[in-house]
Amino acid sequence: MARILITGGAGYIGAHTTHFLLRLGHDVEVLDDLSKGYAHNVPAGRLHQFRLQDQDRLAQLLASKPFDAVIHFAAFIAVGESVREPARYLANNTGGSLALLECLQQAGVHRLVFSSTAAVYGDPASVPIPESATLAPVNPYGESKLMVETALDWLARCTPFRFVALRYFNACGAIAEYGIGEEHEPETHLIPLVFRAIRTGEPITVFGNDYDTPDGTCIRDYIHVGDLASAHASALDHLLAGGHGGSFNAGTGQGFSVLEVIRAAERVTGRPVPFQFGPRREGDPPALVADSSRLQRTLDWRPRITALDDIIASAWAFDHHRFGPPGGRPV
Ligand code: UFG
Repeated sequence: MARILITGGAGYIGAHTTHFLLRLGHDVEVLDDLSKGYAHNVPAGRLHQFRLQDQDRLAQLLASKPFDAVIHFAAFIAVGESVREPARYLANNTGGSLALLECLQQAGVHRLVFSSTAAVYGDPASVPIPESATLAPVNPYGESKLMVETALDWLARCTPFRFVALRYFNACGAIAEYGIGEEHEPETHLIPLVFRAIRTGEPITVFGNDYDTPDGTCIRDYIHVGDLASAHASALDHLLAGGHGGSFNAGTGQGFSVLEVIRAAERVTGRPVPFQFGPRREGDPPALVADSSRLQRTLDWRPRITALDDIIASAWAFDHHRFGPPGGRPV
């Protein structure tokens, strides 16, 4: 049993990881300002609601028990918004992380798992992408995460601090028994928007059908949120066992196009997905697929839910939980 502080544990991936670690028997506290996350995602009695930048309260929380490690999710995640408001994204994501690192150093907490992103690669030259690929974000969101990785590298070089940064590809799905799932406001992610189209009959816009891909639509590596949660548990074990850490891709290694996701959603739900083609969305690379062999090798981790239909079925189950059966309450 380890004592873990999870920042951003009221958000989608953070909450799944919180539930996952509690079931493994870890002692977990959640820090979240609820600016994006939801209190109902956090198991009762675990939530501390304040901002990362609130150094006094953070120091108090860190002094409340001898934490073995921190898992740091708290961040803004909307790529498009980051392009419109770069200063806010850098201040929140990078600035918030630096504030946390300073407090951790003062409190003597030397292990951290960081939620990074495939966006650190920008527009990769080829797929699957290894960690050694060029790091060249094409938006402030990716840069805000890469800057934190740089800071983590320096702490690991200069102090006893060790970290694992997990570069997520496209997180999706839900774990039904936790009663939580993907809820963003506003929603920008493909799978929840596909379900919204099914419920409302309003077509979803497919952003571009002229990419250099087999069907012309973008390809992504969709990784089930439960597999991401288990990757965090493995990262924690690695650090607690004295592992060296570093940055790792977290994906399945399989790419699916937007149209393949739509067809899978039709199979799973038994309903047609109304869609229309629109222009490309700015900043969307044609294909992002992880080479996650390093994560598999070093942390002894494997994705378990890799069939696209299974991933989508788990997301659809949460959609029912949230909105009732289709034809019920409109979205
Ligand atoms: N898409 C559409 N129509 C929509 C929404 C999405 O066609 O209405 C397409 C996108 O163009 C993209 C794919 O569906 O090709 C997936 O889009 P998402 O918005 O669901 O996810 P992204 O790939 O844009 O973003 C994800 C994470 C980001 C992270 C990024 C890394 O959500 O946090 O991967 O590249 F930065």
